[in-house]
Amino acid sequence: MAARPHGMDGDREDPLPAGFICVSKKHGPKPYVEGEPVPVYNTGMFRNPCDGPMRSGDLVILYFEDESMDYLYLRPENFAKHSGKFGDFDHRDFVGKEFTSKIYSRTPKVGRRGRQSDEKGWCYALCPTPELWTEVLPHRTQIIQTSDQAVICFQLSLWDGKVVVEAGTGSGAMATSMARCVMPRGRVHTFEFNEVRAQKARDEFEMNGLVEPLVIPRHRDVCAEGFGMTKEADAIFLDLPQPWLAIDHAIEAGKHGCRFSSYSPCIEQVQRTVQKLRERHCDHIKTIEVREREFEVVRNTMAEVQSAPTKVKNDEEHASKARKVEDSVPWPLPPYMAVPYPEQRGHTAYLTFCTLPYAWAYDERAPYADRRPLPDLSEYPEGTYPAPEEAGDAEMADAPIGPPIPPAPPSS
Ligand SMILES: C[S@@+](CC[C@H](N)C(=O)[O-])C[C@H]1O[C@@H](n2cnc3c(N)ncnc32)[C@H](O)[C@@H]1O
Repeated sequence: MAARPHGMDGDREDPLPAGFICVSKKHGPKPYVEGEPVPVYNTGMFRNPCDGPMRSGDLVILYFEDESMDYLYLRPENFAKHSGKFGDFDHRDFVGKEFTSKIYSRTPKVGRRGRQSDEKGWCYALCPTPELWTEVLPHRTQIIQTSDQAVICFQLSLWDGKVVVEAGTGSGAMATSMARCVMPRGRVHTFEFNEVRAQKARDEFEMNGLVEPLVIPRHRDVCAEGFGMTKEADAIFLDLPQPWLAIDHAIEAGKHGCRFSSYSPCIEQVQRTVQKLRERHCDHIKTIEVREREFEVVRNTMAEVQSAPTKVKNDEEHASKARKVEDSVPWPLPPYMAVPYPEQRGHTAYLTFCTLPYAWAYDERAPYADRRPLPDLSEYPEGTYPAPEEAGDAEMADAPIGPPIPPAPPSS
């Protein structure tokens, strides 16, 4: 078949870019091979409550009576206490009890206006999860809330075995969530350029059972130095003030078909990020915002005061009269109502997603979707462009990964 000129109308035979088809075909979960060593993560964040009652070293989430929460690491041997307005909780009172047990404080809780109360405080001792951890973790930075975390993990197609790259680590909320998605065989490489924060995150990950090789924290400025990885990542997530500066590095670190996400609170950041993604011929670019609207289910007090409708005989004689009476009787009101909470979290940030350039697949049809220019593939006979997994890294190393990046627009 004669080679088709690139970028002409009518060249596409299928509605999806071929690069997309190629990617989706090979992006299923990795099957388990017999005898394959699979790491086990069963402490800290991954503690299974079915593995027995609470013991020394466990991370425990405390759910107090007024819905406030906190956490502790059980240290009964040190006679440690957790003190707060609900009283002093002795760590020894937790050990040997099942997760979800109700634990009472040893001292009375603090009453109104700081006065001592006669009552003891209590809490439920819960087994940690990334969602609960996000509620209680010590904030060193702004963190990503659970509603955004869920959408990011979904859009990045994270599952067991995936290699995901994150920058910056911050307080580790997002890294914890991603680790749960890709465990036991996956990896989370997380980068932070603030040395103190990077060290704190490393210590905390260790305390929480997020250890290597599952979570690999590094101290590095990804905008200046890149990720130090080539074609390794299945997904890349950026929560940085200037994500566009790390996009070239992300493209280098990602595998063919790598999913990409960037989290930015301001629309100006999104504009610059998207501009850069377009310049680098990324596919399926989209920006969304997650808005959570929570409802409270309350008893409908109107329903209680309203009398039940009177039953009217509906025979032929009374038909017209009955219909009139029935029409005048109001329908019974539902006993419960769903009412939106008056104060709710509004905008958190914009989430931008895309797939890093399909041009890597050497598939001549992929860029036709937007009729964009292609790297020069003339040395390959049509239809013989190797997919990365067939070509192997050696062949791919010198391959063009897209047209040269146009110069950055002048800064205003
Ligand atoms: C908003 S926080 C990330 C919060 C994190 N996603 C979480 O959920 O806990 C942004 C972090 O990126 C780090 N950072 C900023 N620029 C960076 C860069 N060029 N390389 C690595 N980390 C960077 C900051 O130090 C900060 O800790």
